[in-house]
Amino acid sequence: MPSETLTITDNRTGREYTLPIVDGTIRAPDLRQISAAEGDGGLMSYDPAFLNTASCRSAITFIDGDRGILRYRGYPIEQVAEHATFLETAYLLLEGEMPTSEQLGRWEEDVRNHTYVHQNVKKFLEGFRYDAHPMGMLLGAVGALSTFYPDAKDIADPANRYLQRVRLMAKMPTIAAYIFRHSRGLPYVLPQNELSYIGNFVNMTFAIGGSHQPNLILQRALEVLLILHADHEQNCSSSAVRGVGSSQVDPFSAVSAGIAALYGPLHGGANEAVLRMLDEIGDKRNIPGFIEQVKTGHGRLMGFGHRVYKSYDPRAKLIKQVADDVFAETGLNPKLEIALELERIALEDDYFVSRKLYPNVDFYSGLIYQAMGFPTDYFTVLFALGRLPGWIAQWEEMLQDPEQKISRPRQVYIGADKRDLPPREQR
Ligand code: CMC
Repeated sequence: MPSETLTITDNRTGREYTLPIVDGTIRAPDLRQISAAEGDGGLMSYDPAFLNTASCRSAITFIDGDRGILRYRGYPIEQVAEHATFLETAYLLLEGEMPTSEQLGRWEEDVRNHTYVHQNVKKFLEGFRYDAHPMGMLLGAVGALSTFYPDAKDIADPANRYLQRVRLMAKMPTIAAYIFRHSRGLPYVLPQNELSYIGNFVNMTFAIGGSHQPNLILQRALEVLLILHADHEQNCSSSAVRGVGSSQVDPFSAVSAGIAALYGPLHGGANEAVLRMLDEIGDKRNIPGFIEQVKTGHGRLMGFGHRVYKSYDPRAKLIKQVADDVFAETGLNPKLEIALELERIALEDDYFVSRKLYPNVDFYSGLIYQAMGFPTDYFTVLFALGRLPGWIAQWEEMLQDPEQKISRPRQVYIGADKRDLPPREQR
């Protein structure tokens, strides 16, 4: 028994139980021994939406929500965003350490060698309607990659897993760019592997007539945004990747589940929802009325609030700096004024202050993406490109964790007792 323990008295029976405390947690299965009657199965913990349940031990990302701290493998997000590239960040998340120059060279080369997608991927993307939502296309296309790479099913082989992670990192930007082109009826642009990871994506997305004049300031801004989104421990989409991956499905299918989770407006879809909200507000004069509406329970202030951050979201702070760089290049996004005023009013309002609701990563990112030329319904695809290394790192860690099994929560059954099915004519 460890030195830290918890003693529980079951007032139903008067019996006392001592449970070990390890890393500030008790193990929910330890509660099963607490039983009031034979056959009751023992005590369970009830935690809808996992407000206070750790589902794994993880060494990837550290968040202290009260102090606004985010670290990747121990490195403060501020330092990673300033001094690393996106591929270095991905390597750090996936391998646990920053790459040496030799390791980085190999990693970049491997990714570069897999940027092409099978021609048939283009064909089935063409099957989507012209107005198909980019996230729907992305989750379908990434899931479909599993049919092109059936070898990905061999998840027990580390070398095979490395190959699949390289494929995912290399092909997602190509697919994302094709989706952008599809929505506009533009011909697809093949990867140009002499370009950087970000440069290649931007070129495949925006090149017209075979050429695109790169703006390196905007490219670096996009890279920083991807870095800021790269991992965020056990969020909804990473939990989806872990949960689906725990069935031992291939990584393309598991990542596709993560994309589906990210699509929702309470998660990655919030960046799109923020822009729609700013459009709906339309003018600074309408802000007080909008805030009142939110406070009376009609809608939410999108881009505000977070399950974990309760003082500020460090990513939102960094994004404001990125916004300055971008708007200096592109000119001010006219909606910025509304956003700033909305933020100012909300941060002075007791409703938001008392609930510790602050701007999150999505509040300003959409304004930047829009200034860069991305359409509103495409923003969450950019979030997905950023989150991809985090999803793969979480999946990899889950597979290597001897304590993990197929993910399978329990339930409290509240339905009908046993009853007999009436004959059809009496239903
Ligand atoms: N606007 C208005 N009220 C809010 C908001 C908001 N954005 N967020 C939370 N609240 C209120 C909520 O109504 C509740 O009030 P009450 O206690 O009176 O019932 C209280 O604050 C606690 O909210 P909750 O829904 O229990 O908090 P949660 O931890 O379950 O939800 C959240 C976190 C991010 C889903 C939520 O804050 C939200 O819906 N925000 C807007 C969507 C958004 O911006 N999502 C992006 C999150 S950051 C990027 C990412 O990781 O995807």
